Parts: sequence; C-alpha cells; structure tokens
Amino acid sequence: MSEQQFFEIDTEFINEVSTETISWQGIESKAVRDGTKLKALPTASVEDLRRIDRECLSWGDTVHYQENPIFVTGCQQGLVFDNDGNTYIDIGMWHSSCNFGYRNPQIDSEVLKQFNTLPQACGDFLHREKLLIAKQVVDAIYERTGIKGRVSFNVGGSLVVEDALKIVRKNTGKNKVAVMMGGYHGRSLATLNLSSSHRYRQYFNEFPERAIMFPFANCSQCFYEKERDTCDLYCARMISKAFENEYYGIASATSSEIGAMVIEPCQGRGYTIPPKDFYQKFITDLRERGILIVADEIQVGMYRTGKLFAFEHFGFVPDIITLSKSFTNGLSPVSLVWARADLVDPTVFTPGHAHSNFANHPLGTAAALATWQYMLAQDYETSVPAKGECFLAKLRQLQARHPFVYSVAGLGLLLNMVFADERGIPYRNSAQLAAAIAQDNDFTCLGKTWRMILQTGGYDLNVLKFAPYLDISYEEIDCTIAVLDQVLQKLGPMLSTQSMHKGGVK
Ligand SMILES: Cc1ncc(COP(=O)(O)O)c(C=O)c1O
Repeated sequence: MSEQQFFEIDTEFINEVSTETISWQGIESKAVRDGTKLKALPTASVEDLRRIDRECLSWGDTVHYQENPIFVTGCQQGLVFDNDGNTYIDIGMWHSSCNFGYRNPQIDSEVLKQFNTLPQACGDFLHREKLLIAKQVVDAIYERTGIKGRVSFNVGGSLVVEDALKIVRKNTGKNKVAVMMGGYHGRSLATLNLSSSHRYRQYFNEFPERAIMFPFANCSQCFYEKERDTCDLYCARMISKAFENEYYGIASATSSEIGAMVIEPCQGRGYTIPPKDFYQKFITDLRERGILIVADEIQVGMYRTGKLFAFEHFGFVPDIITLSKSFTNGLSPVSLVWARADLVDPTVFTPGHAHSNFANHPLGTAAALATWQYMLAQDYETSVPAKGECFLAKLRQLQARHPFVYSVAGLGLLLNMVFADERGIPYRNSAQLAAAIAQDNDFTCLGKTWRMILQTGGYDLNVLKFAPYLDISYEEIDCTIAVLDQVLQKLGPMLSTQSMHKGGVK
C-alpha cells in the first residue's frame, strides 16, 4: 500500500464531515462536525503553537534544554526540515533512533500494510509480526554467540532496562547492580539508579538501590588522570580489584553483593569507545562470582558501530541484551530484552512477570520486523566500517586545522570530537555552543544552503557526537564535513574570547 493510497483513505473519512472555524484561547482552529461530535483540527500558526508550548506544557522534557527548539515539519533520510524552510543535515539521527534514515520507504510501507490489516491487538493475543521478529533476534544472537535465548518486548528503552533488572533480581536474588560512570540507562525511577548523572537524581530524593559506579575508560578525560599510552588499562584493573577482597566492601573470592553489571559497550554520553580489551580485563572475575552481564545496546546496537551489537567488538558475550531506538527505526516505540534461555525459562520467568499494555503493539512489532529485514538486506558489516573510516579521516583533517579539537575517535559510524586545550582541559559547554551555531546559521555546500543538527555530550559538554544514518553516501559525508568545518571556524574565536566555564552543563 503506497503512502498516497493511505492518505486517500483518510480523505474519504474527512469528506463525510463539514468544517467550521472555532476559537480557543484566542487560537483559531478548524472544527469538524461529525454528527453530534465536534472535533478540533488545529490549524494554528507556529507562533500560536509555540505559545501553547509556553503555557500548556510541562517543561521537564529535554526539548527545553534549548532556548528556541526547531519546529520540525518534515524529515527524509538524513535531513530534517523546519517551518521556516530551513534544511538541516541531521548528524545525530535522534540519538541513533533512526539508523536506517527518516521515512525509509521499505520500512514505512510495511508499517502502513500493518496499519491496514491489524493496527491494534491486545497483548493477550499472539500475532505474526511479534513472533517473527522474536525468531529473527533469537537466531541472530545464537549465530553470533552460540547461546540460546528468549526475548520479550516493552515500550521504549527505560522499561526494557527495567525488565532486564527484573530478570537479574529473579535469578540472582540481588537488587544491587554495578554500572560505569558516564553510562545512561534511562530516566524512569528504577533506571535512575543506574544512569550515572547525579543531576538526573538530585531533585527526586533518595535512591536506596543506587548502583555502584566504576570509572569508565574515558581516555580523553581519564578519571585517574592517567595517559592511555602508559596506563595499562588501570581503570579496568581497578574494577577487578574491587571484587578481590571482602574489605573492599562488595565481594569476596566467591561471592558478591551485586547481581549484575550493566554496560553500555560504547557510551552514549560522549560516544566514548573504550580500548578493545577493556571489558576482558574484569568480566571473568565478575562471572566467577555469579555476576550477570547486561549489555545495554539501545543506542549503539543495530549496526551503529559496524556490527549488529557493539559488544561484538570487545570479546565478551552478555547474559542479557537490551534494544530499543533503531530497533523500530524510531517508528512505534517497541523495545526488546533478550536473555539467556535459562534465565527466562518459562518455569523461572512465569506468565505475568512482565507486562505493559502496549509492549507488543503490532505497529511496533511490524516496524521492528521490517527494520530487521531491511537491515539484514544491506551489507552494513562492510559499508559502515568503510564509511566510518572515511568520516574519521576527515574529522582528523579538521582536527589538524582547528587547534581546539583535542581528539577525534570512531567505531563504525559512531564518532566523536573532543574540544579541549593543549593540556586536555575541556572547553566546558563548547559543544553546546557549536550545536547552537550549527542550528541557527546558514552554511553553504554544493551550491546549497544548510543548517546542521549536532549532538552534544561529554562530561563537560565539550564533545560533539556523530551518528549519521547508516546509508549516508560518501558525497553526503563530504558535505557534512564541509559544513562542520564552517561551524568550527565560527566556534574557534568564541572559545578564545568567551569563558566556557559559565552556565550549567545540560
Ligand atoms: C543506552 C540507553 N539505555 C536506555 C535509554 C533509555 O531509553 P528511553 O529514553 O527510550 O527510555 C537510552 C536513551 O537514550 C539509552 O541511550
């Protein structure tokens, strides 16, 4: 079913009703009369809508990290369009929620088919798409790890991380987990125990089950102030050591107070890529004490790093894996948790252990299935590393031209650029400044005008994070780098004249 046909069905419905204009809080809206019911079809201006945002919405949402968020009206592949006619190169793809491009026709058409056949289904029924995507994921993980598992679904990332925690609790009898500093696992009350930022918890009282946090291998800003060339992975050795002796407080030679370590194999905070042998240095010690390993692949899975799962780069196999975001290419928010078969055996994880009303929503399972099929039909294992190398080489060229670029790194199409002075002291909030420059100014490339959406991160908001859509062409990489170069040219003088230490880190 084409998109055109889909809209035709909608039009038939609209033709049956008559319209009139109504006014609400000074905003003109078109009203649709349908028998006895009156429905408002908002036709308010963008200024009216921004006023609604100011007056009617809670601002707890991250959209108000920005003073003047983009009013988005369209998207296509790696581009976003706004109501003022600006075209943005989106180099973050919604924090890796749309790895396969906005409005991917092959994925969208399957969802439209689902919409026209089984758009709704109670979670108490089985349906085809849910079972087929489950089989695809279970098989793919078996092929890569030789381990049999089972999956269940939920709505969005936080809830599926909570499901992972339930599996850990049920099997280990322990509530406490370990995580890495800089990690992010969600902002629900339970996952706030795991996400490292103190700021996310600070307004919400005590978190008695707050995870134990270990410094991550964030080598451009080492917690232990060591140099990568000489550190011999000191941070990894310290994690191992913490479990060695009962007087270090969490474990002994055979036992441990924690049920699991929850890991983002590469961290979303700064698109930080640890050394290849980082995890191997301590995971065996954890396993010997019965500690389960959870790989949170929500942001870095789905071929973002050139492999289906980021953990595949690091020589360990998790017991539990979470997926969300690009699992449905950002369409209907169905997420997934995979666990080793014995951990979720039907006699262990019995009916009712997990449930959310929309967890198996058929538009979501259809989106996931279509996304998976699209993904497998590409050769991302070859193309993503090749494009990533090209992107990284061009970032290196920018580093050579702009002295405030301290380091650049990448794994597949997960890349970063760190702003710091020659001693490695970060330019605090500099990435946020770069993002504002990129978003609010016009740049030129290939005779066209562009703006750019840049993702920011790092412990001091001094890192740009790049996650283009995986089908980005080499020409698009060139254009992205050309625009980024122009952004950095504007940023440079501001770094030397403006104190970067003002303002809160967001
Ligand atoms: C690694 C990781 N885990 C969990 C989450 C939470 O997902 P959600 O925002 O859908 O709850 C995110 C979201 O950014 C994430 O990147």
